[in-house]
Amino acid sequence: MDLIIKNGTLVTPLGLFHADLGIVGEKIAVIAGKIDGSAGQVVDAKGLYVLPGAVDVHTHLQMPFGGTVSADSYEAGTRAAVCGGVTTVFDYAIQRGGKGIVQTVEERRALAEPGACADIAFHCAITSLEKEGELLNEFAAAADYGVSSFKCFMVYKKEGMMVDDGMLMRIMEKAGENGILTNVHAENPDAIDARIAGFLAGGNTSPWYHYLSRPEFVEAEAVKRAVHWAKALGAKLYIVHLACKEGVEEVAKAKAEGHAVFAETCPQYLEFTCDVYKREDGRNFVCSPPMKGPESREALWKALKLGVIDTVATDHCPFTQAEKDWGKDNFTKIPNGCPGIENLYPYMLSAANAGRISFPRAVQLCAETPAKLFGCDSKGSIAVGKDADIVLYDRNKDFTISVKNMHSDYDQTIWEGVALKGYPVKTFLRGNLVYDNGTYTGKPGQGRYIRRSESGCL
Ligand code: URP
Ligand code: ZN
Ligand code: ZN
Repeated sequence: MDLIIKNGTLVTPLGLFHADLGIVGEKIAVIAGKIDGSAGQVVDAKGLYVLPGAVDVHTHLQMPFGGTVSADSYEAGTRAAVCGGVTTVFDYAIQRGGKGIVQTVEERRALAEPGACADIAFHCAITSLEKEGELLNEFAAAADYGVSSFKCFMVYKKEGMMVDDGMLMRIMEKAGENGILTNVHAENPDAIDARIAGFLAGGNTSPWYHYLSRPEFVEAEAVKRAVHWAKALGAKLYIVHLACKEGVEEVAKAKAEGHAVFAETCPQYLEFTCDVYKREDGRNFVCSPPMKGPESREALWKALKLGVIDTVATDHCPFTQAEKDWGKDNFTKIPNGCPGIENLYPYMLSAANAGRISFPRAVQLCAETPAKLFGCDSKGSIAVGKDADIVLYDRNKDFTISVKNMHSDYDQTIWEGVALKGYPVKTFLRGNLVYDNGTYTGKPGQGRYIRRSESGCL
């Protein structure tokens, strides 16, 4: 045995159990009430919870966007990830123009792998069917390469990233034939552009108008449209960063009718409301979709408990203060996106600690379901044969988030000052200690590319 983690409380979707874990090489080899004998390393987890590493299925690392590049490199973002208990990161590789899917992902993989501190997988965001025939014919090759989910932005028209309804339908149809799940960012671009033009013409330029230009009904319309196409085509659909009550209701209805419609939300939509855009630092919270009203926030929490929302991921896309300041006098100039990769698991586990959801449900939302849904067969749970991606969590540790105690490269966070009860104290990536009580202890480059199997199965 290379590593024994003794005396801890395992958190699994089925419940909490006292057990020891035995790790051989990179895998969990034994789970037993008591493991005796020697090992290369023995860690006493008495009083601690033992959890699977989280799987953050939504990040944008060093992504060209909003006139700049998001502020976390692959190395910085994945380093922060493991320091927050996330051991697998899914980044979005953005396909553009006539470029192929596999080529797009290969290029991002080459950027990511040298410094990766967590294991890394990719979704491909398809933004152009310029060479439609070639691209649609590449779906099987992409699935073989381990990329079994594609994203369609129903927005970002001016940015040249939007997928129109015709393209969305063709992608959904072809995806289904290849075991690929279609992810959508659901907002209505024409409604947004019309509203923005009206606000700017009236001199309304503060971040509050970012929210008002894309309020609840703008997101809800696009959610309904995407669900409509999924139902009509019998396609599987995954709605990313769901943030509004009407969207939740639409997903609940589709699920109740037996459709394979899945939804993700993010911690920022669970913690904040649109009131943040009235704050002096409101521009730092500008992301799309924006935070919504309190009714939506409540609906999201309820949906997490009821199983209407399947996953919680971050949409980690940080920008520096100087970049956010571009929009001091005009909200449309603010690069869209917020940090969160290091806060996902601690935030959801703190909610469990406070009794808002159960610990098994928090683990299911952040680790087990994302791994299953996106074909990461060796990730997401503590079971014999799985990768030894393990987090030790101290329920009694108080932690106040600050940019100063994060491990990223950005210089401001919307999470500044948020107090958590409980915090990860150790993270193991495939049996290697990569985070220990506030310090990154791994080696950049340790993270590996994950070749995924079919997506869309639970
Ligand atoms: O504002 C956001 N969410 N930025 C990242 C890109 C996206 O829409 O997911
Ligand atoms: Zn998005
Ligand atoms: Zn995103």
